[in-house]
Amino acid sequence: MSVDNKVSILDLHKKRDSGVPITMITAYDYPGAILAEEAGVDTILVGDSLAMTVLGHPNTISVTMEEMLHHCRAVSRGANRALLIADMPFLSYHVSIEEAIRNAGRFLKEAHMDAVKLEGSGAMAKTAAAINTAGIPVMGHIGLTPQTAAKSGGYKVRGKTAEHALLLLQDALALEDAGCFAIVLEAIPAPVAEQITQKLSIPTIGIGAGAGTDGQVLVFHDILGLFDQFVPKFVKQYANLRQPVIDAIKAYCEEIRTGKFPQAEHSFKMDKSELDKFLDYLEK
Ligand code: KIV
Repeated sequence: MSVDNKVSILDLHKKRDSGVPITMITAYDYPGAILAEEAGVDTILVGDSLAMTVLGHPNTISVTMEEMLHHCRAVSRGANRALLIADMPFLSYHVSIEEAIRNAGRFLKEAHMDAVKLEGSGAMAKTAAAINTAGIPVMGHIGLTPQTAAKSGGYKVRGKTAEHALLLLQDALALEDAGCFAIVLEAIPAPVAEQITQKLSIPTIGIGAGAGTDGQVLVFHDILGLFDQFVPKFVKQYANLRQPVIDAIKAYCEEIRTGKFPQAEHSFKMDKSELDKFLDYLEK
């Protein structure tokens, strides 16, 4: 279902041009999408971080196209207004350009996403350009790129030397030339992210990239304090829901064990005459 106030790529560009920060959060399911949308977020990313936060994998490598599509469908059922972006999973856009376009298209056709995101340096620009030419809006993602973190130095800050910072800027410019409508900058020193943002004419969305980007993104479970296995330095927890959730489940179990739940108000009644008839049947 489309709505009149649906956020568009043009809206993100207008925000950038007028200096209004762009808000983005990940979501992976229907209730998460409803909550994010009600909070008024501009754009929702169905991140491949779902591999860890929802599916329990140690990294993002294992998540499949089918799993991503499944979660994207749930998110699109819960969010009508926010711009919806699907993360293309590892190896869904690396084997060939044809496969990359086909997989990107599946997110729009089968899961009602508005755009896709792919990770990678300027070398990925050719793929991004081909997907964009096919009519599928693409977002880039540079800096710390979790799908290739093991190969490229682990989960550490990128662009800390002048040479590396320059390479990041070149990557960003190549992705802009390829037609990306925005770029995620992950784990980059704040001054480098700020300079990249100033050199580009498309929005940058930072995660661990300081306050000089055009917008910010964080993982749903991280800001709510629902995932405590690995909390990067750049995460700010706006709530700690883990303990209240555990406490609520404990209280539920305790009330079952002690006979306090369910009470009459949680049960369905039956007309006395029907109950008597039923008990008569049982006696026969
Ligand atoms: O997968 C993800 O959640 C991401 C964002 C954190 C940028 O790529």
